[in-house]
Amino acid sequence: MDLISIDDLSAEEIENLLALSDGFLEIASRPIKKVPTLRGRTQINMFFEASTRTQSSFELAGKRLSADVINIKGSSSSVSKGESLKDTILTLESYRPDIIVMRHPQVGAARMATRYTNASVINAGDGAGEHPTQCLLDIYSLRRTVGELRGLKVAIVGDVLRSRVARSNIFGFRKMGMDVRLVGPPTLMPPGIEAWDVPVHYDLEALEDVDVVYLLRMQMERAKGVVPPVPSLREYSRVWGLSPYDLRPEQWVMHPGPINRGVELTADLADHGRSLILQQVESGLALRMAILYHVLVPSAQEEDELAFSSRGE
Ligand code: NCD
Repeated sequence: MDLISIDDLSAEEIENLLALSDGFLEIASRPIKKVPTLRGRTQINMFFEASTRTQSSFELAGKRLSADVINIKGSSSSVSKGESLKDTILTLESYRPDIIVMRHPQVGAARMATRYTNASVINAGDGAGEHPTQCLLDIYSLRRTVGELRGLKVAIVGDVLRSRVARSNIFGFRKMGMDVRLVGPPTLMPPGIEAWDVPVHYDLEALEDVDVVYLLRMQMERAKGVVPPVPSLREYSRVWGLSPYDLRPEQWVMHPGPINRGVELTADLADHGRSLILQQVESGLALRMAILYHVLVPSAQEEDELAFSSRGE
């Protein structure tokens, strides 16, 4: 199966993935952090956009599951010589990969890739489209931290306009029964936001009664050639940048990273005891191991039998 949108998964499938992730999290605490689960399988990571967390965690996840993992970077691939995405995928298809993990600046690129390969395609971010594995790791982080997700109130704050994370998280969080609202300046909300059927607030007062404040990065690199939606980062941070003083002590803070200290949050909020930012990264590795496994072995019963075995086949 492919994972292109968070809507490809039901709430029940997400619950299964969270349970699988617990098992894979345990593997990270072993002295030898490797199981033979995906031995003989081939995973190709294709990143046509910058990435630290997503790329490194997919690579490590594949390696810890014993898959053969190769990495293709946009800037060093033949795409920089003019090869089309279609031809790149067709070329790599000759190696008969089992999984292609793809990040691309264009919305719909991962879905398009599924046309030219028999591998399971995992969308690791397509422009301002979706980022389903970020959503899943955020759900997993919250499950590890607060347990019950149903009824949890979450505010997604900031640059919703250019955020694929917001697009996946709004729908994924709601699927798990959470109460989601968007908070930020009107210029950072996408046109047609009404159709998403999610409450939008233009004031930080909307953070008062939430359990989780989910901050988004200001994606200035996507503003090239267009009128920027905010006058300057300094002005944005003065009005919308959060510090520990803006939150109640029992509220949790999340951010997909990379964080911009001093823009959407102060340095001391990033390092605060209620910040889940680094725990999200840890959750991401276990969750991505679960995803790699799930897209190849979709039957739950098989999953339980095979997932954590340290035996060879
Ligand atoms: C996000 C992304 O690339 O969409 N980062 C990530 O995957 N952890 C968010 C961002 O770049 O701000």
